[in-house]
Amino acid sequence: MENHKAANIRPAQGKLGILTPGLGAVVSTFIAGVIAARSQGKEPIGSISQMANIRLGDRSEGRNPRIKDFVPLADLNDIVFGAWDPISPNALEAAKTARVLNPQDIDSVAAELESVVAMEAVFDQQWVKRLDGVRVKELSSMWDQAQALVDDIANFSQDNGCDRMVMVWCGSTEAYQEASEVHMSVAAFEAGLKENDSNISPSQIYAYAAIKSGVPFANGAPNLSVDLPCMQELAEANDVAIAGKDFKTGQTLMKTMIAPGLKARMLGLRGWYSTNILGNRDGEVLDSPENFKTKESSKLGVLDTILQPDAYPDLYSNIDHVVRINYYPPRGDNKEGWDAIDIFGWMGYEMQIKIDFLCRDSILAAPIVLDLALFMDLAQRAGQSGVQEWLSFYFKAPQTSNELAPEHDIFIQLIKLKNTLREWMGEAPVTHSEA
Ligand SMILES: NC(=O)c1ccc[n+]([C@@H]2O[C@H](COP(=O)([O-])OP(=O)(O)OC[C@H]3O[C@@H](n4cnc5c(N)ncnc54)[C@H](O)[C@@H]3O)[C@@H](O)[C@H]2O)c1
Repeated sequence: MENHKAANIRPAQGKLGILTPGLGAVVSTFIAGVIAARSQGKEPIGSISQMANIRLGDRSEGRNPRIKDFVPLADLNDIVFGAWDPISPNALEAAKTARVLNPQDIDSVAAELESVVAMEAVFDQQWVKRLDGVRVKELSSMWDQAQALVDDIANFSQDNGCDRMVMVWCGSTEAYQEASEVHMSVAAFEAGLKENDSNISPSQIYAYAAIKSGVPFANGAPNLSVDLPCMQELAEANDVAIAGKDFKTGQTLMKTMIAPGLKARMLGLRGWYSTNILGNRDGEVLDSPENFKTKESSKLGVLDTILQPDAYPDLYSNIDHVVRINYYPPRGDNKEGWDAIDIFGWMGYEMQIKIDFLCRDSILAAPIVLDLALFMDLAQRAGQSGVQEWLSFYFKAPQTSNELAPEHDIFIQLIKLKNTLREWMGEAPVTHSEA
């Protein structure tokens, strides 16, 4: 870190508060894993920030440090956790309800989990019909709700002696909505808060409160939160980093690994049918058509941008892409996702690929929460603001700062992520074109 660019990144001194609206399966698994990593030495598997190396310079130089030793990230020991939830009282109860982790793993970190007590949520059942919120702020004005969240953030920081904070939305997927007039500027949004505009959802009130407080915000769910003109304007004005949306786990992770491979080989695609069974609270929420529609639109965008049907009409202009999620309680968090992929090759001969991914959603999502929190904090300390496109790697529907299509190819996304870190640290980008 002797170069002058690195010197421009404020060091990661003091505590980092990771705040999550939502204390369900993903967050309780995330917290348990971080505690197990710091108290039991369990490896944070799946976390790029903790486990991946980054090549620097020519291959002949042999410089290949861990990312966490190359960029000044917050140390896991310096993290404190805060959350809001309308149902879960604390992270221990959330972990028990979610049943992602086995009882021994929960017991071994039970005291720490229990100490993460949920703050009362800003919640409106209109946006998540399947949930009955009980631990909810009794404030009818959205403006007051936003101010209460600003107060929560300030109090959390003070009570825990935080140097910095980040917020990652891990709440339930909200009902589908398009952006409307109230989202077009900060002035319109603030007027909307005062008038209780029904187009404003709870996640947007959290996003507003975070950005107003100078806290970076990443959106792990597919609902609109910071991918709105008003939030982009506010983030730029307050010099705050934002990113979204929808953690790329499970089936979409597979899709963004396989589709670039098919395209690399110039194999044609006729159809991709994806279906899932899922039995956790997320699955229950997504069983409601308005909430599923939000998820569906975030999942469907992926193939078109990877395969570029305009550039390759013979191979990719006639694709049937279908995505289904069915709530099936016996599976709990252990989702099963099937993909039936109909491809064609030389002389148009048809072939099929079948995937049966018995995945664990929260096990895949937890390291993403960690990486996003640490990298958003890094971006903020590096003086970045607005949309952090270099974090597209983590999202199903990456937010862009302009009208350009997002990059979905996971391998290009990883190159972009690493080259951004190299650039911030004064190292040359690695293009693989030379040594
Ligand atoms: N697990 C994955 O692989 C994955 C992948 C992509 C996106 N996501 C998204 O991440 C989110 C969390 O997933 P999960 O499996 O932990 O779900 P979950 O249902 O276990 O947890 C979500 C929690 O959010 C709470 N909540 C709802 N509205 C809230 C509000 N207004 N304020 C605060 N809390 C609120 C719920 O009470 C619940 O406890 C979901 O939106 C999900 O779609 C998950």
